[in-house]
Amino acid sequence: MADALHAFVAGYPIRHSRSPLIHGHWLKTHGIAGSYRAIEVAPDSFANFVTGMRQAGLVGGNITLPHKEAAFALADRLDAAAEEIGAVNTLWFRDGALWGGNTDAYGFAANLDAYGPGWDKGSSALVLGAGGASRAIVYALKQRGFSDIRIVNRTLGRAQELADRFGKGVSAHSWAAVPELTRDADLIVNTTSLGMEGKDELEIDLASARPDALVTDIVYVPLETPLLHAARACGLKTVDGLGMLLHQAVPGFEHWFGKRPEVTVELRDLVLADM
Ligand code: ATR
Repeated sequence: MADALHAFVAGYPIRHSRSPLIHGHWLKTHGIAGSYRAIEVAPDSFANFVTGMRQAGLVGGNITLPHKEAAFALADRLDAAAEEIGAVNTLWFRDGALWGGNTDAYGFAANLDAYGPGWDKGSSALVLGAGGASRAIVYALKQRGFSDIRIVNRTLGRAQELADRFGKGVSAHSWAAVPELTRDADLIVNTTSLGMEGKDELEIDLASARPDALVTDIVYVPLETPLLHAARACGLKTVDGLGMLLHQAVPGFEHWFGKRPEVTVELRDLVLADM
């Protein structure tokens, strides 16, 4: 029998991670001998932690806050998405090298492919927020052919940095411009933590949005965020953020365990029951 394969998710804090539930479900359904464990790793011990995992023969793992930039710096090889985004959320050890990838952009696009088919026929997107998640989403939007991406952020300088990073077709704006920007947007995305349980509400007026605009959120607790609620009240199509979490896990599982898992209704229900 083949040796069992072991993977991890490292973060600080880590107790709220749903990744063990997702990968545990796939290990079981594929009948793979292995494990996937959440490990709390303080920022100053991250590099040692990765070396230890490598020496112990683990196959790799997910990296979450606050380690995504440290993992980027540590990786010997990067996939194209990680290189462009500047952050790594998936590590795998292969052929003596530490590989780093970023699957957030994939997860974002795959969720919309599943629940909003045709979403990528649009050309103009309004992106709320300019943090790490926004970077991955702007990359995904560029990859999928959006030619006019407007980033709105409380700290305008961060939005400007992102716009400079991605160049042509990406621009930075202040929140005051939102009512005007919603008019032209084919897609409206919240990448901030606003609207998350326990955080401030996201206040936005979607009255001037186009009737065919699609609205999505990376926040998935609650599943119907204030943004999605406002969008539905205006009769707009919405896609919730849970699918992004599920889909971003797919490439990692395939790297570590050699099988491409499926995002099923059963998996979605399993994670929902845990929320
Ligand atoms: P992540 O990696 O999850 O994107 P982040 O890098 O901390 O996290 O980014 C959080 C985003 O949410 C930023 O766009 C942040 O705006 P600032 O750059 O101005 O900080 C936004 N955000 C968080 N709390 C906010 C609030 N109360 N009002 C407006 N924007 C907020």
